[in-house]
Amino acid sequence: MTINLTVNQRLNSNLFPVGVATSSFQIEGARDGREASIWDTFCATPGAVKDGSDGNIACDHFHRWQDDIELVSLLGFDAYRFSVSWPRIIKACGSVNQAGLAFYVDLLKALKDKGLKAYVTLYHWDLPQYLEDKGGWPNRDTALAFADYVDVVSKAFNGYVDCYATLNEPFCSAYLGYEIGVHAPGKVGKQFGKKAAHHLLLAHGMAMQILRRNAPDVTSGIVLNFTPYYASTDSEADAAAAKLAHDHHNDWYVKPVLTGCYPDILHTLPENEKPDIHDGDLALINAPMDYLGVNYYTRSFVTSCNNDGFSILPPAADTPVSAMGWEIFPNALRDLLLQLHRDYDLPPVQITENGMACDDALINGEVADPVRVQYLQDHMNAVAEAMEAGVDVTAYFVWSLLDNFEWAEGYLKRFGIVYVDYDTQQRIPKRSALALQRWLTRRKASNGEM
Ligand code: FCB
Repeated sequence: MTINLTVNQRLNSNLFPVGVATSSFQIEGARDGREASIWDTFCATPGAVKDGSDGNIACDHFHRWQDDIELVSLLGFDAYRFSVSWPRIIKACGSVNQAGLAFYVDLLKALKDKGLKAYVTLYHWDLPQYLEDKGGWPNRDTALAFADYVDVVSKAFNGYVDCYATLNEPFCSAYLGYEIGVHAPGKVGKQFGKKAAHHLLLAHGMAMQILRRNAPDVTSGIVLNFTPYYASTDSEADAAAAKLAHDHHNDWYVKPVLTGCYPDILHTLPENEKPDIHDGDLALINAPMDYLGVNYYTRSFVTSCNNDGFSILPPAADTPVSAMGWEIFPNALRDLLLQLHRDYDLPPVQITENGMACDDALINGEVADPVRVQYLQDHMNAVAEAMEAGVDVTAYFVWSLLDNFEWAEGYLKRFGIVYVDYDTQQRIPKRSALALQRWLTRRKASNGEM
């Protein structure tokens, strides 16, 4: 059965780029061509990654990138979002790994040749281990090291990049990595989380300064993840708990970036959990951006509790969920965009990640993923509704091009629109990829491009 995507007219303009996203550690492999990252160390920690896997080979994209880019182009996308591996660029001794840099420059040239827009993320969680050894993100010096790395990269990529993201999801780096320890580097302690978050945001601010100097014409900003939090009952206590979850997990990142202040909860934190904020930090963090990247997957319900003041609940039994166990609820994406639009003086917004994991199976050479097709259609239409209501959304990216290393889940969860057979490294476009291809082809034709 062929399923066609029916997407709102607003996303049908060829001026609205539709792309696919990936990240370095999740697909590249070629471990021998770079320094160790915190994710290599985490993978080697027994029990840290569910299937005990690592990123040594992953999708072997480092050796297969030409075919992968060809696929992005064949599927009809306008843009490709990928990340640069910091440990592939800066060696532990501080010198530049020219071969690592050349890999990305070649990739960028190929994107340009194919008429694909290049959306480059400078940090998608793979911190060099040699920096973690000096304290990682809770150490302010890591932000300075990031600025040096961004300087090298943005000079070398001059003329090839359409859009830069300084960081991907600093919430995940800081909270999952340094506060609850379910991601690399696996540190646990409230005394690390907000300190790490502040230095990540500082790194973003410093990187923006460098990008303005080295790449003044390139659209630059940050990518944040948002989980909209809903109160589990209509009690006042649960409403307050939902607000608290929002302040800690969403607003802690977007508010300083857009306004130069942290949420008021800053003042209620115990002294040892407070970030070390120096004079001038917040002005840097609040540097004007050309866009805000929004990653959205799901929403969560919250209840009040004595410990942290809020507790996040798993979806109720009868709720539609993805293979990650995340609720499928497209309206929350529309409402999130409307809320951001109400709360802030927003720059243009890009949806930089959206997608779902399914229990995909390769049967007779095909992968039928109708639930993913529906998910993508419904979420794109939720974006269109937000645009209708006045939110300036300027791009949409599907996560992900390929099945890949899904962090602490290893290779157990498949987010790709293209199936990867890890034994042969064969790529098989799923029905969702083919549905997107048909829609994008129709879109090009109706815009007179074909
Ligand atoms: C996001 C990450 C991305 C991927 C998706 C499923 O939080 O940015 O790397 O793991 O979730």
